[in-house]
Amino acid sequence: MVKVMVPATSANLGPGFDFLGLALDLYNTVSFTPADAWHVTAEGYGAAALTGRSDLLVCKALKRVFVEVGEELRGGVVHLENRIPEAGGLGTSAAAIVGGLAAANQFLGEPLSRDDLLALAVEIEGHPDNVAPAVFGGLVGVVKTAAQPYTYLKIPFPPELHVVLAIPDLRVPTTEARNLLPPTVPLTEAVFNLSRTGLLVGACYAGRADLFRLAMEDALHQNRRAVLIPGFHQVINTAYQKGALGVALSGAGPTVIAFAPKNKQEAVGAGMVAVFNKQGIEAQWLSVAVNLDGFRFV
Ligand code: HSE
Repeated sequence: MVKVMVPATSANLGPGFDFLGLALDLYNTVSFTPADAWHVTAEGYGAAALTGRSDLLVCKALKRVFVEVGEELRGGVVHLENRIPEAGGLGTSAAAIVGGLAAANQFLGEPLSRDDLLALAVEIEGHPDNVAPAVFGGLVGVVKTAAQPYTYLKIPFPPELHVVLAIPDLRVPTTEARNLLPPTVPLTEAVFNLSRTGLLVGACYAGRADLFRLAMEDALHQNRRAVLIPGFHQVINTAYQKGALGVALSGAGPTVIAFAPKNKQEAVGAGMVAVFNKQGIEAQWLSVAVNLDGFRFV
């Protein structure tokens, strides 16, 4: 049996839409051994809805690796331990895909490299910015190109910035949140985001956490998605008032990610939760470390 832990990921970090993602020290685990039919069991978030299924992303990913190496997988005994809240915005689909790919690859004796797994993961997920940090860990900038392997860069993340997640009890499917976005955008919005994205990457290399607030502004997706997240703008403002240095929608939301000095984490987290609560929405906050190495076997 093979067992792999895959980190949660937070994509975009504001302006870096479909480019930037950060791996977090919070994991879903996939255990796998091949079998003649599918036997899926699960514990943790969403367990009841996953147990007994054979149409899950993790099964698709397991099968995809076998096809890639010219073999067939009829089924498997799969056990999922889900510790990543599934509200949305923390890369649970990327974790399922990368978990399935990594487990199958390990079982087969690692015929594929991590670069190969990234390409297969993007093929299944569509966008690359959750799967890349789930594979490689840390803060990753990844460019989806016509040719593979995809080019990615691990960007140093300022260690003095601590991650605070505000996770409201809302469901925002990524497809729904992507459908809110227009197919083309004005040049002003494009310039707004490319200047911030450049500044954000530069701020990481320069260790300039003080630049994060400006560098995490976005004009492409957050305002359009805010209609699905009551109180979103106030959550952002409150996090800044409580001492955050950067705040953004995590991926397609509804989770909000803030970066704060260690001594401000609690105030920022509790402040964001209080705003969601005022909107009548249950929420929890978590402080998590950054995962630096991507998936790992246990
Ligand atoms: N870049 C993707 C999006 C991430 O914003 O739709 C989804 O987690």
